[in-house]
Amino acid sequence: MQYQIQVPSHIYGGQGSIEKLQPILERHHAKKVLLFTDQGVRGAGLCDSITEQISKAGASCRIFDGVTAEPSTYDVDRVIRQAAYEQADLLVAVGGGSVMDTAKLASVLIGADDTVFDLVRDPSLAKKSIPSVMIPTTCGTGSEATCNAIVAIPEESSKKGIVNAEMIPDDVILDVNMIAKLPKAIVAATGVDALAHAVECYTSKKATPMSDTYALAAAKLIFASLEEAYRDGDNLKAKEQLLLGAFYGGVAITGSGTTAVHALSYPLGGKYHIAHGVSNAILFAPVMAYNQEACEGRLASLCDTICPERAGDSQPAKAAYVVERIAQIVRKTEIPTSLQEFGIGESDLEFLVQAGSQQQRLLVNNRREFSLDDIRAIYRQVI
Ligand SMILES: NC(=O)c1ccc[n+]([C@@H]2O[C@H](COP(=O)([O-])OP(=O)(O)OC[C@H]3O[C@@H](n4cnc5c(N)ncnc54)[C@H](O)[C@@H]3O)[C@@H](O)[C@H]2O)c1
Ligand SMILES: [Zn+2]
Repeated sequence: MQYQIQVPSHIYGGQGSIEKLQPILERHHAKKVLLFTDQGVRGAGLCDSITEQISKAGASCRIFDGVTAEPSTYDVDRVIRQAAYEQADLLVAVGGGSVMDTAKLASVLIGADDTVFDLVRDPSLAKKSIPSVMIPTTCGTGSEATCNAIVAIPEESSKKGIVNAEMIPDDVILDVNMIAKLPKAIVAATGVDALAHAVECYTSKKATPMSDTYALAAAKLIFASLEEAYRDGDNLKAKEQLLLGAFYGGVAITGSGTTAVHALSYPLGGKYHIAHGVSNAILFAPVMAYNQEACEGRLASLCDTICPERAGDSQPAKAAYVVERIAQIVRKTEIPTSLQEFGIGESDLEFLVQAGSQQQRLLVNNRREFSLDDIRAIYRQVI
């Protein structure tokens, strides 16, 4: 078996590690920085310490806070056109997956003849033109670790991943202070997203020894910390574990790819604008229950990692335990579990089945195949 993985070249972690931004800027000889963020993150005051570091490093900074949540191709195109005027030599992303994905696309599109629409058609066109620094402020997407950027495609009422190693970030800062005041509901949704990355990557057909190492490390950290990080927002130890777990989950994605949970959640984000973490959370337990038998060995070894006290249980019991833990975490973090809460009903079913079945990039990674009827049965369970 051959395999490969990409990781950002410099990763800084630990509380207060935001202060490493200054030496990062100096290493890149940055004179003009473009800071990508969104209004929620800026409004939470999270850009202040960053701009301070940038000015300490003797660089100028232009802030773009116009990134939209779950951006579409048109949103990304608009931001990149504005940013292209700035002649920046370094991009810094301060935000969740939406901000980081936009900045990663900017790192390959500023100064290029191609647009994001071209990359959707042919991701191999991406060539990095500006280095990027990622500072996550949510604890889930792992986008700071991946070569992926996910965009909504309004024409298809769905989302697509643009994947190219050129988009791998150069530097990452995992500072728990950036998620210390993250609203509870976003801790829950992004934390479950990170858990889905870990479990899907570990059970993916494309799993490799290297992606397994990261996926298991992610699962161990996230299963142990998510409920507590949600329950007590001041527990920075739990939040730090979650942030690190989310990063490891991102590395695992680069090694093996997610599977059917993410595939079937894309139309929920693309058409109904349900947040990425929430749409994954809704589908997570039903899809893993569907996968349980086909992934039994993998789920059982996941159980050995997260719950060694069950070492004596049978393989099917261990697999069932992991699926039940997933359902329990979604319940305890109070994420909606029904699409009805988003006004989605039987009349939307056929659209979902068609759009979900198109997500072959990820569905092919799933150990158990899906017929259209199987996909219909999954969506029907959550309506
Ligand atoms: N590239 C990848 O590998 C990858 C992986 C998974 C998901 N994604 C994509 O990432 C996007 C979702 O990202 P997300 O779940 O991180 O959410 P997000 O970036 O869309 O942010 C959600 C909301 O949280 C707010 N927010 C973020 N940090 C905050 C903080 N510390 N305090 C207060 N408010 C804060 C934002 O302002 C925004 O309103 C989706 O488009 C998804 O498809 C990408
Ligand atoms: Zn995800």
